[in-house]
Amino acid sequence: MKLKDLFIDYFVSKGHKQIPSAPVVPENDPSVLFNTAGMQPLIPYLMGEHHPYGTRLCDYQKCIRTTDLDEIGDTTHHTFFEMLGNWSLGDYFKEESIGYSFEFLTQVLHIPVTKLAITVYEGDVQIPRDDVSAKAWMSLGIPEKRIAYLGRDDNFWIPGDSGPCGGDTEIFYWRDDSEAPEVFDPSDERWVEIWNNVFMEFYQDKDGKVTPLKQKNVDTGMGLERVVAVLEGVTDNYMTSIWEDARHKLEEISGLSYEGNEKSMRIILDHLRASLFIASDPAHIKPSNTDQGYILRRLIRRMIRHARKLNIDITSDFDEEIVKVFIEEYKSYYKEVVENQEIVFSVLKTEKEKFNRTLEKGLKEFEKIALKTNHIDGETAFHLYDTFGFPIELTIEEATERGMTVDEEGFQVKFKEHQEKSRTASKGKFKGGLSGNSEIETKYHTTTHLLNAALKVVLGSDVHQLGSNITEERLRFDFPCDHKLTDEEKQKVEDLVNQWIREDLEVKHEEMSKDEAIASGAECMFIDKYPDIVTVYTIGDVSKELCGGPHVTHTKELGHFKIKKEESSSAGVRRIKAVLEKEEI
Ligand code: ALA
Repeated sequence: MKLKDLFIDYFVSKGHKQIPSAPVVPENDPSVLFNTAGMQPLIPYLMGEHHPYGTRLCDYQKCIRTTDLDEIGDTTHHTFFEMLGNWSLGDYFKEESIGYSFEFLTQVLHIPVTKLAITVYEGDVQIPRDDVSAKAWMSLGIPEKRIAYLGRDDNFWIPGDSGPCGGDTEIFYWRDDSEAPEVFDPSDERWVEIWNNVFMEFYQDKDGKVTPLKQKNVDTGMGLERVVAVLEGVTDNYMTSIWEDARHKLEEISGLSYEGNEKSMRIILDHLRASLFIASDPAHIKPSNTDQGYILRRLIRRMIRHARKLNIDITSDFDEEIVKVFIEEYKSYYKEVVENQEIVFSVLKTEKEKFNRTLEKGLKEFEKIALKTNHIDGETAFHLYDTFGFPIELTIEEATERGMTVDEEGFQVKFKEHQEKSRTASKGKFKGGLSGNSEIETKYHTTTHLLNAALKVVLGSDVHQLGSNITEERLRFDFPCDHKLTDEEKQKVEDLVNQWIREDLEVKHEEMSKDEAIASGAECMFIDKYPDIVTVYTIGDVSKELCGGPHVTHTKELGHFKIKKEESSSAGVRRIKAVLEKEEI
């Protein structure tokens, strides 16, 4: 049985409900490009919102981390990975959580206690040392010498720089053939962390102010690929059964063996798997020069560069063949990899063709430069990168082959300047909101606020946005509600929205501080994800919401509102799909 199934079965047997993995692109959180931890989609519930599945949850969550993209190629880093997690939302706390982790590791996975060691939070001025956890571990049989107390850098967990947070206790495994030392030294790298139990009882805002949460939660995370490596007794994660078939496929295609070509092969495998999960996500990400699309583009292009290094014919379908092996590996867990496989193949094909053309052009430009000089300065290297998509590694490779030199440092300076500019631009994204939106998307945006307001009138003030998605064709809105809407309720909602459209209400917006926004009574979903100064949109006196915009200025512009579909999204959550039609005469 696979680790994922063992994990879920165990926690379900302890009264947890399995929740489905959320998409890799967060649906409601514009502040991050990808889900990077199992807890990310659960933030509202850790903050106290009622979860329709109850207070004990577990899942395997698709995660993407891009902060160390350049480290991919070693034995432990992955762009895409799966995180196993169990949560208590104001239910059990330290002792029970530690008891479950211990039982799962020793009784289900049969890991000997002698191979385990623990870190707990040593405390700070606000939070006392976590003796409760240490005691709990000892009562289960972990010797005192195998418990280390560490500070904020190691044993305190927060998603980014603000959010629900708390001290944590981490479980380490002795990954070496020798006997584990009696005394635990956390700096000895043969001890690898396999599970993190975070006791989320605080909220930290952007200024570092810590306040208690409404409830005490547990958030755990176990990196699947690492634990599988531990269980299968290998030190290179890519040597586990997870990668085996794909690795063999790559060996077959390249005619080379993994041994001796590890770095390029790991990069190809990692980047193809991550591309599969990004391109098959419901967010329909396509390679581009911004945000998630840019990551996808970089992954595909770097993968191609390494395929080229292995002398693979990069005009062939080698990538598709490998991705098909990954689809086999994951299809029983994530149906989107099968349902959207044609999209993935076409994304790969199109980007590959584009990049191959870029490579050709870049190489031509390179030849021109090589005729004039035998030194490529930083500016020229950056020009090759920026205009021709020619990565610095490629410039160096080509230069070295011709006995030329490259000012890599000069390139890095230019590159950093460029990064700074893009960072500033992406911060501006909040201010400009969805300014790239088409006219119709703008209309759907305003309509979403009206729909939210109408649902509150018809179903009660508890209704609020749990998810929203807008395309040129329709709006989609998820909200908490315990029943299927009756025809009468749907009609009332439609009538109300259309009435407000006909009244031609003015849409106004003003900028204010977050505190002012809250005090003004505006609906402030996901307020922590916004910058300090926020925009509040008001529509007549029917709606007031914090929002990045953009919106129409008068509701009459919207046309005629029609609900096309009302369905269940998950337990206790309903989903409405609605369209705007031309005003009926
Ligand atoms: N959220 C915690 C982590 O990612 C469990 O390590």
